[in-house]
Amino acid sequence: MKAGKFITFEGIEGAGKSSNISFAERVLKQSGKRLMLTREPGGTPLGESLRELLLGHQHDGISFKAELLLMFAARAQHLDSKILPAIERGEWVICDRFTDATYAYQGGGRLLDSAAISMLETLVQGERRPDLTILLDLPVSQGLERAGKRSAPDRFEREKHDFFERVRAAYLEIADRDPQRVKVVDASLSLQQVQQQINSVLSSFLESV
Ligand code: TMP
Repeated sequence: MKAGKFITFEGIEGAGKSSNISFAERVLKQSGKRLMLTREPGGTPLGESLRELLLGHQHDGISFKAELLLMFAARAQHLDSKILPAIERGEWVICDRFTDATYAYQGGGRLLDSAAISMLETLVQGERRPDLTILLDLPVSQGLERAGKRSAPDRFEREKHDFFERVRAAYLEIADRDPQRVKVVDASLSLQQVQQQINSVLSSFLESV
């Protein structure tokens, strides 16, 4: 059986990942793909428990290195027990965030050494990388304004503007380094315009596989 593909969505808070993932789901289903939707941190019972610890406020003083390791602990479980088996079954996996988020938030935001992140990436993933990443990019002030209209801020959403500027810059640097895999979508535009861009990225990807 033909293996499935691994697609990730990335972006700062308020970039519109949820509604655009639903849109991508519709596009790919229409072209006959069997899909599995999942998210990070999370996606498995262990991952969802770690998500609660990472996003909640009961460990507000968590060390940045502990945060990094918990992200990868959740990812190891997610990849081995859920993502890779689905891809092997021929399913297309759409994941709301993956390791680019670690480079952006723990590397860019928390200023942890990207060489250490790269070591953990190799340990947990070997050579496995997403086949396609859609980076929803928009100015930090616009993203935070949108995110602020939602529920109470989680542990990351409480960070200051500068933190998210570094996260955004790190994401854009990843896209610059790997333009073949990472497609930048201008998420500052209207939902309809954003979806047009996503549709064209997905159409080119579908033609290429
Ligand atoms: P979200 O699912 O609402 O986007 O929240 C997940 C939060 O976790 C978000 O603020 C980004 C953060 N995060 C990291 O800091 N590192 C990671 O590796 C991942 C996957 C998420």
